[in-house]
Order: sequence, then structure tokens, then C-alpha cells
Amino acid sequence: MNAVITGATKGIGFAIAQKFVEKGFSVAICSRNEDDLAKAKVELLNINGDITVLTFKADVSIKSDVVSFARFCLKGFEKIDILVNNAGVFFPGMIMEEEEGALEKMIETNLYSAYHMSRQIIPSMQKIKSGYVINMASIASFMAYPNGGSYSISKFALKGFSQVLREELKEDGIKVTTIMPGATWSNSWAGADFPKSRLMQARDIAESVWSIFEMSPSAVVEEVIIRPQLGDL
Ligand SMILES: NC(=O)c1ccc[n+]([C@@H]2O[C@H](COP(=O)([O-])OP(=O)(O)OC[C@H]3O[C@@H](n4cnc5c(N)ncnc54)[C@H](OP(=O)(O)O)[C@@H]3O)[C@@H](O)[C@H]2O)c1
Repeated sequence: MNAVITGATKGIGFAIAQKFVEKGFSVAICSRNEDDLAKAKVELLNINGDITVLTFKADVSIKSDVVSFARFCLKGFEKIDILVNNAGVFFPGMIMEEEEGALEKMIETNLYSAYHMSRQIIPSMQKIKSGYVINMASIASFMAYPNGGSYSISKFALKGFSQVLREELKEDGIKVTTIMPGATWSNSWAGADFPKSRLMQARDIAESVWSIFEMSPSAVVEEVIIRPQLGDL
């Protein structure tokens, strides 16, 4: 079985890669940093030396990079069982105050990447009438909050994309899930003045992805909302 995960050298994406590797999946991962990719590969193979780890340097905010990564995955794997559109960036700010270009950057990275990746990979799933697409949205996909700014716009749009895909792929035997996590410990939270335990751990999101993946072919979890036990920050 094979999984493709975008933005999987750190945080939630890497935790999902770890989980699937533990379960015997081969994985293809991308990010913008070669050194991080090499390090992630070693760590994943340390968990399970019997699988394949394919790595590819890509900036998913650039369409041609997304297409190249997708083609690399289709060439490397006979079939793709699950695609996780995870890569995303968060630049906090308010619409009226954020830097010029913030909207474009986050739409390109958080939305267009998932759109182009899905359009490349899903035809291979349609051929075999089986597959799974996970889109990593956010509570910012349904709830506006201070400093959410264009990040929230991009994640609202990603949720919309995911819902459309779900409707379109029902008859193809392909499941689509929108995951909407709240605050999850990752590099972007480093330096924050509260304990790590106040936030969810990337592993929690990975466990949730695995548990919904395991369901019988007749059931799909369309949406997952997962928050820190003490609520939003
Ligand atoms: N952490 C949270 O609180 C939280 C909450 C809700 C939703 N999410 C969503 O969950 C996803 C993962 O977030 P995270 O917190 O785990 O992030 P993270 O720890 O910053 O990791 C992001 C991963 O994506 C890669 N990446 C970022 N931009 C990329 C690009 N343009 N092209 C290719 N790879 C790229 C990063 O590697 P490079 O930087 O080296 O490219 C890294 O491997 C995002 O979509 C985020 O919006 C996070």
C-alpha cells in the first residue's frame, strides 16, 4: 500500500508519514528542503526498513512543482492508496494589515496545491475505483478569528474544494475527508508562552487520519473537527 503526503518533513505531515510507515505503507513525501527530506527518509526507514520512502523537492505553491511531484509519485508507485494534501503555511495577520501578497501566497500553497495535486493523482484512483483523499483544512476553515486573515480565507476555500471533491467522487469509490484541526504543536508554535501540552500533538492528528482510513469501504468520515482538550487558543 502506498501513501502520498505533501509537506511531510515536519509537523502533522511527518506524523502522518510515520503512522502509515508503521502500518507498512510505502510513502512519497515532498517539501522545499533537501536536507530535511533526507533526514525524514532516514527516520522513516528506521521505523520500518521494509518499505520504500520516495522524496522529492517541491515548492507546492508552484503549479509546475506540484505536477512534477505528482508524476514522480505515479511513476514510483504502481497505485496510490491515499493522498494527503497536507502542505500549508500560516502567516498571521488581519486582512487590512497583513503584507501585500499574503493572500496570494496562502491561496497558492494551501488551496491550489491541493487542487493541482488532486487533479494529477485522482485519475489513477478512478481507474481502479478505489482511493482516499485527505485535505488538511483547519478550524480556520469554518470559524473566523482575530489574526486569521488570509489564512482563514485559504482554509475556507480548501474546505469548499474538499466538499466538492467528496460529492464528485462518491460513485468512483474514492473517499474524501476534510480534517479540521485546532492548535497543534509544530514549529510555527515554537516560542509561544504556554506549555506544549496545551496544544494537540501532531501524532493526535495522525492517529485520527489512520482511524478513519481503516473503516470499511461502505463508510466515509466526511469531516473531522479536532481541538485541544481545553479548547481554542
Ligand atoms: N499546527 C497547527 O496548529 C495547525 C492547525 C490546523 C491546521 N494546520 C494545517 O496542517 C498542515 C500542516 O501544518 P503543520 O503545523 O504541521 O506545519 P509545519 O510543522 O510548519 O510543517 C509544514 C510542512 O509542509 C512543508 N511545506 C510548507 N510549505 C511548503 C511548500 N510551499 N511546498 C512544499 N512543502 C511545504 C514544510 O517543509 P518546508 O518548509 O521545508 O517546505 C513542512 O514539511 C497545514 O496545512 C496547516 O495549515 C495546522
